[in-house]
Amino acid sequence: MLAVLGVLLPAPNARAVANAAAAATESPDATRAAMLQMRLGGNAVDAAVTAALVAGVTNPTSSGIGGGGFALVWTAADQKAFLLDFRETAPQAVDAAAFDQRPLPAHRQGVLVGVPGEVRGLYELHRKFGKRAWADVVKPAQEAATKGFQVARHLAGSLASAGDKLKVDPGLASVFYPGGKAALLGRRITNPKLGNTLALIAQQGPQAFYEGAVAADLVEATRANGGALTLSELKAYQPLERTPLSFEWEGKRIFTMPLPSAGGLMLAQTLAMFGSEELKKYGYQSGAYQHMLAEAMRAAIADRMRYLGDPAFQKVDFKALLAPKRLAARRRSMSLDRTHGMPRFGLEEHGTHHLTLLDKDGNMVALTTTVNRLFGAKFTAPQSGVVLNDQLDDFTSAEDVKPFGLKQSPNRARPGARPLSSMTPTIVTYRGRAILGLGGSGGSTIPTNVTQMLLAQLVFGRTPEQALADRRFYIPTKRAYILLEQGSAKELREDLEWRGEIVGDMTYSGTAVQMVSVQDGRVLAGADKRKHGLALAY
Ligand code: GLY
Repeated sequence: MLAVLGVLLPAPNARAVANAAAAATESPDATRAAMLQMRLGGNAVDAAVTAALVAGVTNPTSSGIGGGGFALVWTAADQKAFLLDFRETAPQAVDAAAFDQRPLPAHRQGVLVGVPGEVRGLYELHRKFGKRAWADVVKPAQEAATKGFQVARHLAGSLASAGDKLKVDPGLASVFYPGGKAALLGRRITNPKLGNTLALIAQQGPQAFYEGAVAADLVEATRANGGALTLSELKAYQPLERTPLSFEWEGKRIFTMPLPSAGGLMLAQTLAMFGSEELKKYGYQSGAYQHMLAEAMRAAIADRMRYLGDPAFQKVDFKALLAPKRLAARRRSMSLDRTHGMPRFGLEEHGTHHLTLLDKDGNMVALTTTVNRLFGAKFTAPQSGVVLNDQLDDFTSAEDVKPFGLKQSPNRARPGARPLSSMTPTIVTYRGRAILGLGGSGGSTIPTNVTQMLLAQLVFGRTPEQALADRRFYIPTKRAYILLEQGSAKELREDLEWRGEIVGDMTYSGTAVQMVSVQDGRVLAGADKRKHGLALAY
């Protein structure tokens, strides 16, 4: 790793010596800013906050201050896991009926805007754990917006493909479509309005976002697009500390996301079905391996659809869902030569950005942040330059739970509820040290991707770089039981078909996992090339 004039130069997805710092994100600018923050004396939380804010500027397709997320923090000194939920909430006047009429037209996308949690969430993380001054951790994002940044590969691709949907918003058009054309890879662009908003947040803290002129701008823009956000709801927004879902697996302790995400439960249920010896016997990436995992994942998805929702509104018995007897019965129903039908569950390209950070003291952060779909609600607040989320689209319609025998979803739109997420920030510890941090983007495919990457490392010893380069499978789609990535072997497809799987092709590459691990005394970081991320370690 080279530092020249304070600028960290890119290195290949990196490996380094023990006690190294590492960052893996979907945005090369965010990774560099995170590493610099740690070079300047910041810890993994300072770096995570900086990276999330920078990513919101340079990669606004996926996340930003108009969105929200979850952060899992491992503190090495006291060997504790801390979890913060800063997900968006539905406004009190949410139009619940509209959720059964989706897709909504462009002028009603405001219905899907939840009260953004990102700024209060990042501020709270920094207040609790940060070492550097708040203004210093915000500054890199502010400077990226004001002084400009180069359009990276993922943003360039998204702008080119989504042009017609995005250009209708004057704010998006003026920043990302100079002269009416999508900004190309490598073009330098600025976002001065967002830069001003970040400058206010740097100076005044979160109230600069949740009250006053910026808040009024967010409310007006959302209401102009049919939404119900109010000033008082913005002012009242609070992130929530939650107890991580935690369990032992094969001698390791795994900390992951509880409700309001389904991701942790899906990971825990899948792992509970297998021991590493059985998985090794199947063989890494074999048809048997993929089929058995896919069966466990489909069952977990069915549980998600039947039972999960915001725990403040929906009684969910996690203990019962994870009961060994129940899972053992499920395991007995699975076999190598038979496939269970697929629950109906959409698969659609999503925004969302996962970041994994490790500092030299062994503190680790797994943070997933999102505006939901690409560019969220696809409109900006005109004065503040903030892209509004469409996170409430994660509420489930009545139609989607019909195949499960339900009239209404446990994850239906309700005033004040946080929609069920798939985000799965996860940290694995061994003998009191964080040895693996990971998470992903990609909507409903996150938990199944995170599970595959976790097993690749813990069972088969794949490094992050190797694991992320391996072809994965995806579940589910409307027409197939399992999807394979391009280039998967013909023999694998035939093997899966023999087991009763209906095999389809994965047609987009929008699901990305970011990993940092400590293996044999070395720190290894891997960023997923599916979204052109960058991992660095020094
Ligand atoms: N909106 C993506 C997620 O929360 O899973």
